[in-house]
Amino acid sequence: MTNSEATPTTTCLVELLGPAQAAELADEIRAVYRTAFSVSATRWDKSELGITAFENDIFPRHLAREGFGMTTARNDAGKLVGFCYGYIGEHGQYWTDYVAARIHPSLEKAWLGGHFEIAELAVESEERGKGLGRALLSTLLDSRGEDRVALQTLEKDSSALPLYESLGFTPFGEFENYVVLGQRRGTSAA
Ligand SMILES: CC(C)(COP(=O)(O)OP(=O)(O)OC[C@H]1O[C@@H](n2cnc3c(N)ncnc32)[C@H](O)[C@@H]1OP(=O)(O)O)[C@@H](O)C(=O)NCCC(=O)NCCS
Repeated sequence: MTNSEATPTTTCLVELLGPAQAAELADEIRAVYRTAFSVSATRWDKSELGITAFENDIFPRHLAREGFGMTTARNDAGKLVGFCYGYIGEHGQYWTDYVAARIHPSLEKAWLGGHFEIAELAVESEERGKGLGRALLSTLLDSRGEDRVALQTLEKDSSALPLYESLGFTPFGEFENYVVLGQRRGTSAA
């Protein structure tokens, strides 16, 4: 779908990848996911079970979804220190159906189905606060043509929520400690 495009940040290189290139990086992606989501400083505090599920089931399944796209960030030493990815969300997929069951049908109709779904955004703890999360997400979004983007984060997360809101995401659902946010894009943006 896409060739790599490299964007230098202050200390890291952000690249845009398609599914075949992302699949080749599976081991590095898993390593970043493991450290980014298991450190106690974040509220996610994923269990070993959750991390293993990402490694063995969730990431391979997401890789195969239509419209998969990813951005990665490498530091000066070439080490992968962050990534963001998404795909086209549709009814019949776990997250779309999970959210649809918890919001008003009018919101479901407005936001879900054919949207670009941001599934993961992670930056290793020692590289945070340098603009990498913003660069990873913005570069990925700039590459997309869908008219709606949707994602989910923890309601009280102190870092991800302000980032999403600063990029124009607004909440369209709140449940079970989570907030679901959407961004409208293109000519009819609200
Ligand atoms: C969320 C995460 C990706 C942010 O990455 P990052 O590289 O630190 O983010 P950036 O440096 O690009 O900061 C972007 C914005 O996020 C917000 N932000 C980042 N760190 C913050 C903090 N400690 N407190 C409050 N807001 C913060 C700010 O709005 C910031 O905007 P600014 O550039 O105007 O200051 C990173 O903290 C992370 O990987 N966390 C663990 C995994 C996670 O929670 N992923 C999101 C799941 S929905």
